[in-house]
Amino acid sequence: MKKILMAVSVLVMASAAGAEDRDLQALYKKSCFACHAYGANNAPKTGAADQWAPRLEKGMETLVAHARDGFNTMPPKGLCFDCSDAEFKALIEFMSEPQQ
Ligand code: HEC
Repeated sequence: MKKILMAVSVLVMASAAGAEDRDLQALYKKSCFACHAYGANNAPKTGAADQWAPRLEKGMETLVAHARDGFNTMPPKGLCFDCSDAEFKALIEFMSEPQQ
């Protein structure tokens, strides 16, 4: 049992490290940016923490699922067709943080 747990945590760490290998800003610019930078179709705006607050209340897992599967006018995968769940999470965290 312990061995299985260790294998799982190594896998989780490996996938988290993998997410950081790709440039988050580049991923953002070629996908989420198109709608979230200016709030097209009522998309919560990048850096507008007040617009993200009610979304974040749904829980990160739900938001990652909505980014992956789509949500109303938010298209599935948000134009990032090869993004992993870990990358969606990082992108959501980036967009929901206040920007300077
Ligand atoms: C074509 C435009 C478009 C693109 C590209 C896009 N989004 Fe969205 N997104 C929207 C719109 C519009 C909404 C608001 C949907 C609503 O609340 O009805 C939204 C909402 C969301 C939400 C909130 C979902 C919820 O449950 O409240 C998340 C999370 C999200 N987008 C993540 C992303 C991520 C991550 C990317 C980039 C990988 C991305 N979006 C790219 C249009 C877009």
